[in-house]
Amino acid sequence: MQMNYRETLKVNNSGNLEIGGADCTNLVKQYGTPLYVLDEKHISDMCAVYANSLKEYYGSGKALYASKALCCKAIYSIVRKYGLGADVVSGGELFTALAGKMDAKDIYFHGNNKTEQEIIYALESGVGTIVLNGEEVDFLNDICGRLGKKCDVLLRVNPGVEAHTHHYIQTAKTDSKFGVSVSDAADIVSDIMQKENLNLKGFHCHIGSQIFEIKPFLVAIDILFKFIDEVKRSLGFITKELNLGGGYGIWYAEGDKAASLDDYKDFVKQISDCVKQNIEKYNVEKPYLVLEPGRSIIGEGGITLYTVGGVKDIKGIKKYVSIDGGMTDNPRYILYQAKYSALLANRADEMPSETVSIAGKCCESGDLIAENIKLPPAKRGDILAVFSTGAYNYSMASNYNRNAVPPVVLCKDGNSRLIVKPQSYKDMARNDLDY
Ligand code: LLP
Repeated sequence: MQMNYRETLKVNNSGNLEIGGADCTNLVKQYGTPLYVLDEKHISDMCAVYANSLKEYYGSGKALYASKALCCKAIYSIVRKYGLGADVVSGGELFTALAGKMDAKDIYFHGNNKTEQEIIYALESGVGTIVLNGEEVDFLNDICGRLGKKCDVLLRVNPGVEAHTHHYIQTAKTDSKFGVSVSDAADIVSDIMQKENLNLKGFHCHIGSQIFEIKPFLVAIDILFKFIDEVKRSLGFITKELNLGGGYGIWYAEGDKAASLDDYKDFVKQISDCVKQNIEKYNVEKPYLVLEPGRSIIGEGGITLYTVGGVKDIKGIKKYVSIDGGMTDNPRYILYQAKYSALLANRADEMPSETVSIAGKCCESGDLIAENIKLPPAKRGDILAVFSTGAYNYSMASNYNRNAVPPVVLCKDGNSRLIVKPQSYKDMARNDLDY
C-alpha cells in the first residue's frame, strides 16, 4: 500500500493526487515546492473523534492538542472549534498558542526543564495547569510566591512501562529523563501538598509515541491507579485529574496499521473503560480525564510535495531520486530511520515499477526521506508526494545549509489557504549582524 486513501486524499480523474479536494499539481503551480499541505477535514475529524468519544465513553474530560506535533497560529483555530485545549512545552509554543487565541485556562505547560522565564510567562499569562517534574517543585513554588500567584499543577509520574516504539521516542521507562518514578512519587506528592502556592490536581503520564498496541496504555493506567489508591490511603490525597498523555500511532508505510476514525474511537473507549474499571476496583473518586494526542490528530492530515531533480542510477546497486527538500523539512529518517511512503503526485495512477531511495539536498549522506520504496520511473520535474508528514516535520524543521523552511498550506473542499508563509533568504539572515 502506497497511501492510506480517504475521500480527502485520493487519486483524482486526471490521475493526480488530490488532498482536501485540491489537485496537488495545482497546489505546486500556486505555491511551489517544497510544500507542506494539510487536509483540514481530516484534522477536524480527528479532533472530533477525541472530543466526542471522551464525552461519550467517559464523561468529564478534555482532549489537548500536543502542540509539538505542529505549532502555528492557524492550527489552534481548528482544535479550538472542537473544544480541545493545548499542551505546550516552551515559551515559544505558549506564545503561538496564545497568538492563535487559545484560552490560557485550556493550556497545559509541560517540559522536563522549564526555565524561570518560561514559568513567569506561563503564570502571568494565566496558563491553567503546569505539569511538574519532581525536581521542579521548590522552583515553581518559589516563583509563584514571588509573583503572588497560586497555580494548579499535575505531577508527571513515570509508570515504568516500555512501549513498543523507537527508543528515542519512549518516555516512561524507568531511566527516562521525564517524570518521577512511581515508586518515588508519594514523597513528592506529600511535599507538594505542603506548598502554599501549588494546588496539586492529580497526575500526568505519557508512555511514548507511535504506539499501536493498547496493552501498554492499560498497564500504565493500572499502575497509576494503584498509586492513586496508595496516596489516598497514606496521605488522604484525592486525585481530581488524570492526564494520560498522547501516543497513539498513525499509518506511515507498509506494515503500519491503517487505523480508521473508528479505531481511534475504540482506543478512547478502551482507555475510558479501563479507567472506569479501576475507579470501581479501588473505590476512588472519578478523576477528570485528559488525553494529549499530537501525531494522531495531525500526522496523516499532512503531506509534503517536492519537485524531483536529478536521478542517479548506480547500476545494479542503487537508484537515488533527488528532491528539493530533505532533512531540513523532514528530519525523521535521519533521526529515527522513520519509514515513509511516497508517490508521484502528477502521475499518481501509474503503477510503481522500480525501487528507489529518496535523497534530500543537504550535505549529509544520511539525508534521505525513504529507502527502497517503489515508484514509477521518476524524472526531473515530477512532483513527489510524501505521506503522513503532518506531525513532527514542520515542527522539527531546521535551516541547515540555509535551506528555507517550506510554507504550510491548508486545504478544504478544494480551496487552499496559506497558513505559514514561505521563508525568504532574507528571513534566514534576519538576525545576523554585520561585522
Ligand atoms: N504529551 C506529552 C507529554 C508528550 O511528550 C508527547 C509527545 C505528546 C503528548 C504527544 O504524543 P503523540 O500523540 O504525538 O504521540 N519527535 C518524535 C515524537 C516525539 C514525541 C514526544 N512527546 C517523532 O518525530 O516521532
